[in-house]
Amino acid sequence: MTTVLAPPKPQAAVRFASLLAGDKRYKILEAHIKKFQHRQDALIEVLHKAQELFGYLEDDVLRYTAWQLKLPASRVYGVATFYHFFTLKPQGEHTCVVCLGTACYVKGANKILAAVEGRTHIRPGETTPDNKLSLLTARCIGACGIAPAVVYDGTVTPRQTAETTLAQINQWVAP
Ligand code: FES
Repeated sequence: MTTVLAPPKPQAAVRFASLLAGDKRYKILEAHIKKFQHRQDALIEVLHKAQELFGYLEDDVLRYTAWQLKLPASRVYGVATFYHFFTLKPQGEHTCVVCLGTACYVKGANKILAAVEGRTHIRPGETTPDNKLSLLTARCIGACGIAPAVVYDGTVTPRQTAETTLAQINQWVAP
C-alpha cells in the first residue's frame, strides 16, 4: 500500500513564499533541493547546504526543509539534533557570516575575514570566549550583485569592507 502524503497546507505555502521572496538564501536552498529532486533521502545533504547558507539551522529553515521534502518536521528536527555537525542556534549572542563565494572573494572578502579574525582572535565556526560573537563563513549567499556581502545577525549587508565590518562587530565585542 502506498502512503499518500497530504498536500502542503495553503498557509504554509504562503508563509514559505514570503521567506523565498525576502531572503535569497532560500532560493539557493530551493535550487539545491531541486537538484536532489526533492528526495527524502537527501535530507542530510540539504541540511548541510542550509547550514552553510545560514550559518546554523534556524527554525524556519528546518520547517522549510521539511515542507520541501514532504517530511514530518519532527523527522527533520530529529536528524538536525542527532548529528553533532549540525547547529540549531549560533552559540554567540551575535553572528557575523562572511561570504567567501567567488564574487565576494574577488572583491576582498578574504580581507574582511582576516580583519575579523585579527580583531576577535577566533576562526570561522568559533565563538568569542565571552559568547558575544560567532564567526561563520558561507560559499555564496545569493547576493553576488552586492558583493562583498556580510550577514550580521541575519541581515544581508551589501558592499562591505574590513572597516565597515570592524565598525559593526566593535559594537558587539569588548575592546
Ligand atoms: S559570492 Fe558572495 S553572495 Fe555570491
